[in-house]
Amino acid sequence: MNTTVKRFGLLILIMVISLKIEAAIPHLEVHGSAVQLVVKDKPMLLLAGELGNSSASSANYMAPHWARLQRMHLNTVLAPVSWELVEPEEDHFDWQSVDSIIKAARAHDLKLVLLWFGAWKNSMSTYAPSWVKRDESRFPRAQLPDGRGEDILSAFSPALRDADAHAFAALMMHLKQVDQNDNTVLMIQVENEMGMLPVARDYSEAAAQRFNDSVPPLLIHKLDALSAGSRLRELWQAHGAKQQGSWPTLFGDGDAGAEVFTAWYYASYAESVAAAGKAVYPLPMYVNAALNRTGKAPGEYPSGGPLPHLLEVWKTAAPSIDLLAPDIYFPNFVDLATVYKRKDNALFIPEANHVGNPQIPANAFYAFGKLDAIGFGPFSVESVDDSQPNVLVDAYAVLEQLSPAILANQGMQRMSGFKPRVLENGTVIDTPVTETIGAYTFTVSFVDNQSPKDQQDTASHGGIIIQTGAEDYLVAGQGMIVTFSPADATQGSAGIDYAWEGAFDTHGHWMNGRRLNGDQTHQGRHLRLAPGKFQIQKIRLYHYY
Ligand code: DGJ
Repeated sequence: MNTTVKRFGLLILIMVISLKIEAAIPHLEVHGSAVQLVVKDKPMLLLAGELGNSSASSANYMAPHWARLQRMHLNTVLAPVSWELVEPEEDHFDWQSVDSIIKAARAHDLKLVLLWFGAWKNSMSTYAPSWVKRDESRFPRAQLPDGRGEDILSAFSPALRDADAHAFAALMMHLKQVDQNDNTVLMIQVENEMGMLPVARDYSEAAAQRFNDSVPPLLIHKLDALSAGSRLRELWQAHGAKQQGSWPTLFGDGDAGAEVFTAWYYASYAESVAAAGKAVYPLPMYVNAALNRTGKAPGEYPSGGPLPHLLEVWKTAAPSIDLLAPDIYFPNFVDLATVYKRKDNALFIPEANHVGNPQIPANAFYAFGKLDAIGFGPFSVESVDDSQPNVLVDAYAVLEQLSPAILANQGMQRMSGFKPRVLENGTVIDTPVTETIGAYTFTVSFVDNQSPKDQQDTASHGGIIIQTGAEDYLVAGQGMIVTFSPADATQGSAGIDYAWEGAFDTHGHWMNGRRLNGDQTHQGRHLRLAPGKFQIQKIRLYHYY
């Protein structure tokens, strides 16, 4: 081989290797009408759980938990990285806490989403290092209207933003160095539940000055384009829909206007931090929201976070944030999750209530099946007692088996998730839900027929139906009675050709259990997925006249 050919060969090799590295970075990708997280060129469903806030700070504390989390069928753990631990002295980084989490996750075949607890965690600034917390002149605090400082750093401090972004970029550089080829770390949360408390905005001098600045034209264009019914647009219109002016001029000088202003500045801050990190290692990034209850005023809840009525502000000010993610601790899961599934926002629920909540499993099926979620994680997941039969473990085992089918069908209109809607006040709307999937229409009732309704927790019932062939479906869940008819009314009636209960083995091969018939299908009239245990049935329907 002559030298030119050798050199050319080497060049091609280098290009192939660098393309492979490039392709290996986890990223979001459109799949039909859905967006999926792609890891090592394959889509992945994050069956996740978030650790309690302090757990990951001690490798010893975590040691017994990793194997349990793996046994619980999680594939991803959400773990905090705290600014105070990684940068105890300015510009001196200590990656021990991060490396020990990565090592343990790898040893247990788990992936990670890392949560950057930087300037703010639940609005407060307790995770900032001492050298930040103690230097008020360099890192000013947010102030109350009477001038008192809060345990909240001011978002209007360029010094804070730069220090936070610097530390975050260092984290991303470290991850790039230790994990780019492995991809244990899939995604990053920027800060945690940002938002101002107990008032709608920061009253420091710097904030007051910005409050009188002109509203950025980008936001005004966005308001112009918003559809009628948007709370943000209505607020703007109520103040004359002016094209120019300060925040109070355009949105009023009350709490509602102050909240829009706060949202813009928190989002801009998150944008700076995320962009600094992405410039180094562009993993997908999100910001999580502490949701607001109806009727509460901004400041009673964290004002200005990525809340349903402020999504447009965040989307405009923070284009480097790939998605805005709701932490859902309220009962109205279906309604809240639906708001965050948008064309420009894949659904990811980092905190889907405290891990013991009985509605979590059905909510997970709904999120993946109906809303094409990329991931779902209950909070404080390591606190589960998995030595007892546990419905979450059951549900995740089933979701793990169904993951290939769910991923293949997200965004393809061949699948749906089912669970009763629950209102914010806890009222359960457990009337049957009807959906057409392929050639058949399914009606799912959440009231089981073998015990009195008042002895059933119908809000915890639910599941998924996935079309796998012309008349073939996977039906999974608990507490569902499923009836069916041809979608085309001229096609007569539908019956069960066959129904198997069973499971997929670790290679994805279906293994038949019982052939369900007779009393188990009410002589062909319905499918029953009993309450108490999540299961899968593989069925074929037919129609007759
Ligand atoms: C929401 C926060 O994001 C979590 O870090 C944790 O503090 C939970 N609340 C506790 O309920």
